[in-house]
Amino acid sequence: MSLSWIVAVLVMSTCAIGGTAGTDTQRSLYSHLFDKYNKALRPSETPNSTLIVEIGVELTHLIDMNEKHQTLTANLWLTMGWNDTYLRWNASEWSEITTLTVPDSYVWKPDIMLYENVDQYFKGWSKSETYVKLRHDGYVLWEIPTVTLSSCQVNVSSFPFDHQKCPLKFGPWIHSSYEVEMRSMAANGSLQYFMVNAEWHVVSFEAHTNNKTYGESFDIGTPYSDVTFVLEFERKSTFYVFNLLLPCLLLTYLMSTMFYLPLETGEKLSFGVSILLAIVVFQLVLNEVLPESEDLPWIGRYVILAMIMMSVSLSLSVLVMSVCDCSITVRPMPHWARTVFLKVLAQIMFMGDLSNDHPTNLQTDDTETFQMSDLNISSSLSERTTTPMESQDQSEYQAGAEILASNLRSIERKHSFLISYMKELDRKEEVRKEWRTLAKVLDRLFFFIYIITSTVCLAAFVAYV
Ligand SMILES: *[C@@H]1O[C@H](CO)[C@@H](O)[C@H](O)[C@H]1NC(C)=O
Ligand SMILES: *[C@@H]1O[C@H](CO)[C@@H](O)[C@H](O)[C@H]1NC(C)=O
Ligand SMILES: *[C@@H]1O[C@H](CO)[C@@H](O)[C@H](O)[C@H]1NC(C)=O
Ligand SMILES: *[C@@H]1O[C@H](CO)[C@@H](O)[C@H](O)[C@H]1NC(C)=O
Ligand SMILES: *[C@@H]1O[C@H](CO)[C@@H](O)[C@H](O)[C@H]1NC(C)=O
Ligand SMILES: *[C@@H]1O[C@H](CO)[C@@H](O)[C@H](O)[C@H]1NC(C)=O
Repeated sequence: MSLSWIVAVLVMSTCAIGGTAGTDTQRSLYSHLFDKYNKALRPSETPNSTLIVEIGVELTHLIDMNEKHQTLTANLWLTMGWNDTYLRWNASEWSEITTLTVPDSYVWKPDIMLYENVDQYFKGWSKSETYVKLRHDGYVLWEIPTVTLSSCQVNVSSFPFDHQKCPLKFGPWIHSSYEVEMRSMAANGSLQYFMVNAEWHVVSFEAHTNNKTYGESFDIGTPYSDVTFVLEFERKSTFYVFNLLLPCLLLTYLMSTMFYLPLETGEKLSFGVSILLAIVVFQLVLNEVLPESEDLPWIGRYVILAMIMMSVSLSLSVLVMSVCDCSITVRPMPHWARTVFLKVLAQIMFMGDLSNDHPTNLQTDDTETFQMSDLNISSSLSERTTTPMESQDQSEYQAGAEILASNLRSIERKHSFLISYMKELDRKEEVRKEWRTLAKVLDRLFFFIYIITSTVCLAAFVAYV
């Protein structure tokens, strides 16, 4: 009491003398304002009336959007203002001092919190001391730069073409809307100093004023006022299109060429397995980026579908190889299989009619000609016998002819055995060739099935996005 009196007397005397040093006035104004000031009390006109706090947010940097932990780290400049009834002065009485800057810890401040805050080390808006600006009519302006870590429900179902909405809800934590009411300084949060982000494009930053009732308080049903800034942004998808989507698509379609690999080389399976491995790696990379939710993004579903299709096509190739591999037992192809696969299916697959109905007809003519020649020899022999000759010569000749004939017969036997063996070989080769053709037709069929399935799936997913 006495101190303030002395100060007042001092102020009066300095005014009377006329030597109004600015700093002295400032000092005395400060004493005038803060000597009886209690920063614990809400500075409204009456204890009953509500105090209006206005807030503005400037987004300067989108530091990180973590899809896996569903958090948003952003650099914000917060601006808050309110009317403090106890911090008014008449400027003309204080040598036209209209504003005064003091540390923020000297004045009452609203307990504005970010509702979505998930920073466990949060200890106030600013680590370092900040200042507030006081205006002679009692308006207090508090500006704080801060980095917030807030939760944000990320919906990645259309990754990498997704669109996210992150609310930033600012409101007093304990003061009900009867005590402190929130108001936005502008219709939108400011993006004037926003640093362009490589991954995200900010679409809008609208402010909404709310008045919500939460259950837990002294008298149930007290409404709380807040201002929610909804940050809406979309992903710049180029990076993911070229680094994730395109290779994945390429792998899927590369897999289809597996059906064109020749069966004999045995490269088929190793080729397919390496592509399958590559797609598994892609899935791992994708899992690094995406949150663990049951709502899988379409690209994840596509990768899984591609994996399934590749596995199925690998087993189909094994099936085809087993059909073709008939080195041990050569069974002729059943007639129905020839009709269904080599005739109908091959024509559907644009391969033409591959069924060869009479594969062994050509061989019979050769044996016929041989037997004719055989008959010719024996007839020429009988012709020889009819010619008139001496009896001894004739008997010698007869004996020689007998030996020759028997030799010829044994040669003929061996020859016909050889011919039949060759025919058997030819027949086997023919059957094998037929099975190989069947394998080729199956390969072509599976190729078409694979291409159509993957294209339809891709189209469905693109339509879904
Ligand atoms: C505050 O409001 C209550 C009723 O709501 C009234 O009875 C009381 O007089 C008011 N107090 C002041 C200081 O205005
Ligand atoms: C502060 O008071 C002035 C006039 O008294 C009024 O125009 C202004 O809206 C008030 N500001 C707030 C944040 O209540
Ligand atoms: C401020 O002070 C001047 C001079 O002392 C006086 O004329 C004026 O009415 C005062 N204004 C208010 C709002 O009290
Ligand atoms: C995510 O967005 C898609 C449409 O874009 C919607 O169908 C789905 O329900 C959303 N998921 C959640 C959890 O909001
Ligand atoms: C606020 O943002 C919306 C788009 O989100 C825009 O249409 C509107 O004009 C903006 N308002 C102001 C005052 O800038
Ligand atoms: C908030 O709701 C309460 C009761 O529902 C009402 O009395 C108060 O005026 C509302 N405040 C605002 C800012 O709408």
